[in-house]
Parts: sequence; structure tokens; C-alpha cells
Amino acid sequence: MNKRFVIAIDGPAASGKSTTAKQLARKLKYVYIDTGAMYRASGLCTLLQNVNLNDEAALKNMLDNISIKIEYAEDGNRVYLNDKNVSERIREADITKLSSQIAVIRIVREKMVELQRKIGENGGVIMDGRDIGTVVFPNADYKFFMIADVKTRASRRWKEAKENGEIIPMDEIEEELIWRDENDSNREISPLKQATDAIPIDTSGMSIDEQVDMIYSVIKRGENA
Ligand code: DC
Repeated sequence: MNKRFVIAIDGPAASGKSTTAKQLARKLKYVYIDTGAMYRASGLCTLLQNVNLNDEAALKNMLDNISIKIEYAEDGNRVYLNDKNVSERIREADITKLSSQIAVIRIVREKMVELQRKIGENGGVIMDGRDIGTVVFPNADYKFFMIADVKTRASRRWKEAKENGEIIPMDEIEEELIWRDENDSNREISPLKQATDAIPIDTSGMSIDEQVDMIYSVIKRGENA
């Protein structure tokens, strides 16, 4: 494969982005970057360092010294915050909420976007998030916007939690998804929204394989063009 594209996949929480992006990256031998994990790690960092989200100087100092690394692993990427493996901790409910809260802050977004552009500058990368096609890589070679109805998304999250031995009431999951989508879509800076040139994919009735195949075939067509 000669062309090393930048592929942006955006969409609301639990719309199928990360599972699809992960499998697609494996097929294309691309690097997969879950940018949500970076906001999650930043949120966790404020907790660990006792940084108040309203204290801009303290937040800036934290960001100036932060190290977030995403490493490929067969069973899912590992996320390191200041060299500590935080892959599991950042998936917990308090950090999920905090990540959406910290993601409204301008200096946080500026730092994350800077890191993300650096990672993707040579192509061969699939990034998923909320603003990849609109802000981080507005010139991405491919942009996809994945959506799914809230029931489908909640049921995916429920199953994921169950596989990890956790039973969370469905209405609690739905409430959290709706809150987060609203918070992510209504923020002033880089809100969650479909780029005008993104290809929308409604994954509600689709299996993971169908989602991957659909995107893969679009990219293969581009490669041979
Ligand atoms: O994709 P995720 O659920 O792990 O993302 C966690 C939060 O991070 C999400 O609620 C909003 C924020 N986020 C963002 O603002 N921009 C991104 N590119 C990715 C995530």
C-alpha cells in the first residue's frame, strides 16, 4: 500500500467508532488513535494532581508537563499518563463524566489537538473522536460520521459492561449517554458535529463487520483511484 491516509471517524458516544476504527486499523496496518482516551487521561490527571478545572494557571502547568502515550496492544490500546498505565482507570464512570467536562476548556483542547496533529502528520492513521474531521484534520483524506439511536448505543454499553463483570441499569446508561452527547454537542469550542464533507453512517442495525467492511471498501476504492 503506497498511500498513507488520514482517516477521521467522529460521532457521539458509543456509536461504534472505536470498535470499528480498531478493526479497520488492523486491516489497513494503520495506527489507531482513540482521542477520547486523551481527554479521559487529562481528566484523570486533574484528579490525581488535585487541579481545579477553574484554575487556568494550574491547568496550564499540568498540561505543559503532561505525557499521554497510546501504545498498540493486541487486546486493545494501552494508555499511559505520565508513564503510568491508566487504560482501565480512564473507563470508569467518574472519568467518563470528567472527560466531557474537561473537553469544554479551550487550553485543554488546544493541547490535545496539538498532540493529535503531531501523531497524524505522516498519515497512516485512523483517529476517532468528536472534532477530528472538523478541527484536528479538516483536510483528512476520509471522514466518517457514525451515529446510532440511543437504545442501540445503550445496549452496546450494557453488553460491554457485562463482559467486564459489571451490571449497570440500562436507564442509567441511557441518561449518561444523553447528558454527554448534549454536553459535547453544545459546547462553544469544537462541538461534536458532522463535517460537511463527512460520510454519515447509521450503525443502528449494523454488525461490527458490516461497519468495518463499509468503510474499508470506501478506502480501498480511494487507494486504487
Ligand atoms: O470517545 P470517548 O467517549 O472516550 O470520549 C470521552 C469524552 O472526551 C467525550 O465525552 C468528549 C471528549 N472528546 C472530545 O471532546 N473530543 C474528542 N476528539 C474526543 C473526545
